[in-house]
Amino acid sequence: LSSRNPDIDQLGQNKSRLILLNKADLADERQNEAWKEYFQSKGFHVVKVDSRNGSGMKTIQNVIQEACKEKIERDRRRGIKNRPIRAMVAGIPNVGKSTFINCIAGKSRAMVGDRPGVTKGKQWVKITPYLEIMDTPGLLWPKLDNELYAHHLAFIGSINDDILDTEALARELLEELMRICPNSLNQRYSGIDTCDDPLDSVCKARGFVLSGGGYDTVRAARTVLDEFRSGKIARVTLELPETDETQHEETR
Ligand code: G4P
Repeated sequence: LSSRNPDIDQLGQNKSRLILLNKADLADERQNEAWKEYFQSKGFHVVKVDSRNGSGMKTIQNVIQEACKEKIERDRRRGIKNRPIRAMVAGIPNVGKSTFINCIAGKSRAMVGDRPGVTKGKQWVKITPYLEIMDTPGLLWPKLDNELYAHHLAFIGSINDDILDTEALARELLEELMRICPNSLNQRYSGIDTCDDPLDSVCKARGFVLSGGGYDTVRAARTVLDEFRSGKIARVTLELPETDETQHEETR
């Protein structure tokens, strides 16, 4: 929910829409299913996607047909056959829009980019004879008026780290992970549950010591954020549908 921009409802009015749960590989699979059901119960078409390994891409094409079935039917009544569906990918920064477009477009996109002198700007990439995707994603800004949502967005890297206090952010993330997946966290940074400052224990576990002595907590913070965002700590879902509570390892 944090990563949804409320304007999309307005912008997408009267359009067929598909919610892609991208980076599904980084989230808890049970919660992926729960989110899928949640959005489906609200009438959305939903597909779980991993844009890095391509899983979910085949399903998308079928679901798009399903989502656009009224439009296709209207065309058919008017005698228009096989008009390609044109789709746009929209979302906040870092959710994987470009990776997704590259993945689904595959070779067709590379070909467009490789040709020198090709007009830059908006272009439609043919995915199949019946589906075209705009090659430039629609960038929406995250909503930052809800503090909890803003924190989650910072954790996942949708807010530029350069404007944040990364040490404070990493400490907060570690506290959250301590609630959600204490075992996985302890496995990765042993003794994290025993230190007053969790970043100190990351330094201890990894040997991040400054030349003049003392812990290199800046490096520890960077490491924690990177390892969380690349799924190395655990598959974590920060929000649950409906309840808005965080997920707990022991209840999984
Ligand atoms: P954006 O256009 O929405 O801003 O996002 P972008 O495609 O640039 O993706 C942001 C980061 O998320 C990239 O990692 C990308 O590889 C990663 N990513 C995209 N989709 C998935 C997915 O389904 N699963 C996982 N695990 N990661 C995904 P990066 O580290 O910033 O860049 P790179 O080093 O991978 O190129």
